[in-house]
Amino acid sequence: MKRKKYVLGVDLGTSSCKSILIDETGQIIADSSVGYPVYMPHANWVEQDPADWEQAVTLSIRQVLNKSNIDTEQLVGMGLSGQMHGLVALDIQGKVLRPAILWNDQRSAEQCQRIVEMVGGKENLLKMINNDMLPGYTASKILWLAENEPYIFDKACMFLNPKDYIRYKLTGNFATDVSDASGTGLFDVRRRCWNEKLLSILGIQKEFLPKCFESTEITGYITNAASECTGLPKGLPVVAGGGDAVIQTTGTGLVQEGVLGIIIGTAGIVAMGLNSYKFNRRGALQIFCNNYPGTWHAMGVTLSAGASLEWLKNVLYEQNFSSNVYKDMDKLAADSPAGSNGLIFLPYLFGERCPYADPSARGTFIGLTYKHQKSDIIRAVLEGVVFSLKQVAELITECSNVPISEVRTSGGGSKSELWRQIQADVFQLPVVTVSGGEHGGAFGAALIAGIGCGIWPDVFEAVKILKIETETLPDKKNKELYDSLFEVYKNLYLINKPAFNRLANLFG
Ligand code: XUL
Repeated sequence: MKRKKYVLGVDLGTSSCKSILIDETGQIIADSSVGYPVYMPHANWVEQDPADWEQAVTLSIRQVLNKSNIDTEQLVGMGLSGQMHGLVALDIQGKVLRPAILWNDQRSAEQCQRIVEMVGGKENLLKMINNDMLPGYTASKILWLAENEPYIFDKACMFLNPKDYIRYKLTGNFATDVSDASGTGLFDVRRRCWNEKLLSILGIQKEFLPKCFESTEITGYITNAASECTGLPKGLPVVAGGGDAVIQTTGTGLVQEGVLGIIIGTAGIVAMGLNSYKFNRRGALQIFCNNYPGTWHAMGVTLSAGASLEWLKNVLYEQNFSSNVYKDMDKLAADSPAGSNGLIFLPYLFGERCPYADPSARGTFIGLTYKHQKSDIIRAVLEGVVFSLKQVAELITECSNVPISEVRTSGGGSKSELWRQIQADVFQLPVVTVSGGEHGGAFGAALIAGIGCGIWPDVFEAVKILKIETETLPDKKNKELYDSLFEVYKNLYLINKPAFNRLANLFG
């Protein structure tokens, strides 16, 4: 009898490590999540201890193997997903030199500006890496380290992204994948290799960066030591995997142009797979290599999606109101008609990254009248977030020149039926959720591992195992109203920008 094959996906997130084990049909056999702390030693600094990651990954893999109770000989490989843009600096012995600096750390804003100047302007930078330099990106962190902690920089011999530190611990190899490398700000996204010209301008040695692989390639094998710690079989192949923002969209089947992915977590990610390289002309999007050779990934992140609803929940409800508070909010919001009786919300509660890169942007309600109810306010927040997602989607359509035929939604926000309906009505497109979507990067990593280890021949076959779980069709009668409101919405940022700037100057 043919024995079943299994693959493991491990996602090193910002708050926890999630591991899942799936079989050849995509069925989830077991999952586990183990958390770790985030340290903020100064305002705008966000760090983690790689030793905490190591412990959590080990425990989470052990838990998943125990829960599933499979014969580990049937495991054919594992894949890694992880928080992007971070910096782990190692010395010549492979020892961690300082806490890891994370993707949401803002300390290197000044270095970002300097990098743009060093390459002769934003246009030149876009030609080199096809992306603008965001303060979160690894490149500016390396410069910050050289300028502010030279005693550490001088000892550094290897700079890794978070998941690739875990790979080093599991396999002993320094390696990364093209999607995570795209988010370092040092990568030639078009040619899928480190940009040597940029490295030399910035004074970063290529030998200090890991070898770069396509996501499905095998980067090494579980060592004796890692096998003892985790319970994984010695010699198990570890494929390259991907940065979480990319690989979680692969895990929902976003591998073909024309299908738009919307992930509503704290932030809202809008993404589309590209079958050919596209130039990021405005620099407003993030365009990265995708997890399959010859494919790319266009994405924009609106910073406050789920966070807008969470903020409203905290404002409107007592702390321990009920665990089902989001369901109650949904029910209440459904009492308000499409358009929230003329109330519009701008979701810039953390400033914004896309469609406008503006830390001074602020959240706004516009159109308030005496007759507005709690239900209108909640619905306006749900609608405002979807308008912001649609503005990012317009940038993706403009850049890719591909019309959107379907929206695939995942993340915590996709559990709300009303939010799915609002997405369908604002976009006037069917909105679907698929199996595995709630497991984010870990599911994508397992899928990519399955391709690299021979379960599926390619990514297009692999995603056929995904099952459609819900489908929400657009209500045509809301089209005209939402189109008009979207036009009003789009002007509100531009009109209010001077006020946002003044407020940011006055209150920080
Ligand atoms: C992507 C991004 C986040 C991080 C953390 O650009 O900033 O998705 O990868 O999850």
